[in-house]
Amino acid sequence: MKEHGIELSGVNLKNKFINCLSLFTTGITSIIYKKESQYEGITVNSFAPVSLKPKIIMWCLDKTSKSKKNFLRKNVIYKIIFLSKKQKKISKKLASTNNTFNKLYLNNIVKESLGYLECKLYKTYNVGDHYLVLHKVKSFKILKGKEPLIFFKSNYF
Ligand SMILES: Cc1cc2nc3c(=O)[nH]c(=O)nc-3n(C[C@H](O)[C@H](O)[C@H](O)COP(=O)(O)O)c2cc1C
Repeated sequence: MKEHGIELSGVNLKNKFINCLSLFTTGITSIIYKKESQYEGITVNSFAPVSLKPKIIMWCLDKTSKSKKNFLRKNVIYKIIFLSKKQKKISKKLASTNNTFNKLYLNNIVKESLGYLECKLYKTYNVGDHYLVLHKVKSFKILKGKEPLIFFKSNYF
């Protein structure tokens, strides 16, 4: 691939592509499920709505994620929480490895958020280095009066 007449390949091309994708502004979600008596979560900004009827949403899961199997389970309720401006710390914590926490911590994430969806796995597609994950939305809640956490050019706003 060429940029301004310069041939890009390998790591350079991958970094440039990531930089270009980072120009698309997104919100941030925490995807959380119950793991025995604890909870596990992951930070995701690849979320997008897909269908209103039936209610289907999507996100993309990196195949290198150590906990990928946990986020591809059938008959598990996944909470997809839309983070507010105050929740940068949560986004950073849930982007790290081995992320388990208790119910009190989950309740605080929910309380400070913009709202959430409760979903079940619907379909998974194998797409390059990611899985495209589709969820059916079982219920949802809107929590008013907060500003969103915004992600642009790899920075929080
Ligand atoms: C802002 C932000 C957005 C992210 N979006 C995604 C995403 O859409 N899909 C994904 O698989 N990982 C995403 N990640 C990375 C995961 O949160 C992170 O790799 C994962 O929690 C690491 O856990 P692991 O131990 O399962 O590898 C994102 C990270 C950040 C900081």
